[in-house]
Amino acid sequence: MATDILDLVSAYVTLKKKGQNQFGLCPFHNEKSPSFSINQDKQIFHCFGCGAGGNVFTFLMRHEGIGFPEAVKLLAGRANIDLEWEERDEGQAKQNEALYHICEFAMDWFQQNLFASTGEEALKYFQSRGLSVENMKAFGLGYATHDWDGLIQQAGKTANDVDTLVAAGLALQKEGGKCYDRFRERIMFPIKNLSGRVVAFGGRVMKEQPKSPKYINSPETPVYEKSKILYGLFQNRDDIRRQDKAIFVEGYMDLLSLLANGIGNVVATSGTALTQEQAALIRRYTRHVVLMYDSDTAGAAASIRGADVLVENDVEVYIATLPDGHDPDSFVREFGQEKLLDRVSNAKHLFDYKLTLLLQIAPEKREEGVQSLLASVARVKDRIQRSMVVSDIAERLHVNEKDLWAELQKVLQQQARKDARLAGMSTAPKPGKQTKSEKAVDDLVRILLHDWSTSELIFDHFDLKVGEGHYLLPVLDFHKNQQRGGRQPTQIEIVQRFNDVRISEFIVQELARERPDLDAEKWAEDCILTIRKEQLQQEIAAVREQLKACGGEADVRRSLLSRCMALENEKSTLSLSLNKAT
Ligand code: CTP
Ligand code: MN
Repeated sequence: MATDILDLVSAYVTLKKKGQNQFGLCPFHNEKSPSFSINQDKQIFHCFGCGAGGNVFTFLMRHEGIGFPEAVKLLAGRANIDLEWEERDEGQAKQNEALYHICEFAMDWFQQNLFASTGEEALKYFQSRGLSVENMKAFGLGYATHDWDGLIQQAGKTANDVDTLVAAGLALQKEGGKCYDRFRERIMFPIKNLSGRVVAFGGRVMKEQPKSPKYINSPETPVYEKSKILYGLFQNRDDIRRQDKAIFVEGYMDLLSLLANGIGNVVATSGTALTQEQAALIRRYTRHVVLMYDSDTAGAAASIRGADVLVENDVEVYIATLPDGHDPDSFVREFGQEKLLDRVSNAKHLFDYKLTLLLQIAPEKREEGVQSLLASVARVKDRIQRSMVVSDIAERLHVNEKDLWAELQKVLQQQARKDARLAGMSTAPKPGKQTKSEKAVDDLVRILLHDWSTSELIFDHFDLKVGEGHYLLPVLDFHKNQQRGGRQPTQIEIVQRFNDVRISEFIVQELARERPDLDAEKWAEDCILTIRKEQLQQEIAAVREQLKACGGEADVRRSLLSRCMALENEKSTLSLSLNKAT
C-alpha cells in the first residue's frame, strides 16, 4: 500500500523532526510534552508514554475505532485519489450518492416489471402468499426478469453506467469483462437504511430448485453494511415506537406476512446473528423486543444468542415460541392475527424462558444451563435489576443466593476477559495477569525478534499447538514458516505483516527496546520448558480427576495410574531431554 505513515499521521498529529524520528503529542493519551514518534524507515508509530504502537493500518484502526477492512478501504481511497482528507470524503460522498441512485433506479425497474405483463407470475406468487398490492408497494417489492442483462440494458438507456451497477452489487463482471445481472428471475426485496434509501436487495426464487439458492443477497458495499441494517426498520419504526415493542423475525416473508395481517411493529434479521449495531439501532425506538424465530432448533439457538446481545444493550428480551414446524408466516396464515398476538403477549421474559428450560432438566445435569442463564444475567448492566433477577433465580432453582452470586462473579470475570479479547482494540494483557506459560510464549516472540539464531532451537522443540489461543500465535506461526523456508524476515516485514492492534503494538514496543542482555538460547530453553511443564501439569491433573471419578474398575485404574506415572516421569526428566536434543 502506497500510504506513507508520515503522510497519514500528519493529518492527525502535528509532528516535528528530532534526530531520526518525528515527534508529536500522542493522540492515544493525554500529554503535555511529545512522546509519540514516527519512524519513517520502519513505517511505524510508537508512543514512549503509553506504549501505543503499530503500522499505518493499526494507527487508523485505533484512531478511528474501525476494523481492518475499513482501514484498508480508507487507505485505498486515500492512495488512489491522493487528495486532502476533506476532498477525499467528498469523493466518497459522491460515490455513495451514485450507489443510492442506482439502487433506487433498480428498485423502480423491478417494481415496474412486477406490475407489467412480464411480472404476472411474480405478482401471483406474492398474492398466493397473502400480500396485497398495497403491502407490495409499501415495501417496494419487485421482480427481476430472466434476461441475463435486463437491468444492465435498462440502465444503459438512461445513461447509468455498468461500473456503478457492479459497485452496487447489482451486476457481476465476468473474466472477459462482460457483465450480467446478479438477480435474474427472482422476486425482489429492496433493503432500506434508516434514511429510507435503498442500499441492497434480497432476491428469492419462485420455485425452489436444488441448483439455485432460495435467496441471494447483495454483497456489502460502501453504503451497505449488513451488520448495521435491520430489514423493515425504516418502514415500521413509527409503529414500533408507538407500541413500544418490536417483534424480531428471521425472514423477509415473515415480516411481510405479519404486515399483511395487520401487525406492523416487526423487523427481520434476515437469518443472520444479531449484531451489537443492530441492537443499538432498535434501542433507539424501544427497549422491548420479542424474538419470534422459527420453531426448529436452529431458530431456538439463534434466539438465545441474539438475546444476549440485546440484553447487553439494555433491551428487555422476550421469547415467543411457535408450534413445531411453524415460522411466523405460516403460523399467522394458518391461525390468524389474534392467535399470533397471543403468542407475542405470552412470550416469556428471557430469564424466565431459560429458567423454564432449566427446570425441565434433572438438577444434577443443570450445570450448562445455569452457565447460560448466568451469561445472560451478567449482560444486565443495571445493578438493581441484576440483583432482583438473581434473587428470583435462586428462589426458583432452590439454590443459595450467595452461591449464585459467587458463580455470577466468575462469569462476569470471564466475560470481561472475553470482551477484551474480542474487542481486539485493547492493549496486550498485563504481565501480572498472564499464566507462566502465556508469559513464556510472549518471551519466545521477544527472543525471536532480537535473536534469530535461536529460531531453529525454538521451532525444533516448541509445538505451536501448545500455544493455541495465545494472541501472539500468528507471529510464531509466521516465523516458523520463514524459518522452515530458510530465511529470516526483516523487521519491516514483521511490522507490516500484522494488523491486529495488540500484535502490532507488541512488536513495535519490542523492537523499540534494547536487546535484553541474556543468553538467548538458555532463555528460549527455559521458556519451552516452562510451557511444556505447565502442559504436563495440566495433563496430570486431568488424569487424577479421571482416577477419582473412575471408582473401582481395576483395569481402568491401572492404566490411568501408569499414564499418570509416565507423565510425572516426563516432567521430572524434562530439562535433561531438551538439553540432550540440542
Ligand atoms: N436467507 C438467505 N439466504 C438463504 C436462505 C435464507 O439470505 N439461502 C435469509 C433471508 O433473509 C430469509 C431469512 O434468511 O428471509 C430466513 O430464511 P427462511 O426462513 O428460509 O426464509 P423466509 O423469509 O421464511 O422465506 P420463505 O417463507 O419464502 O421460504
Ligand atoms: Mn418462511
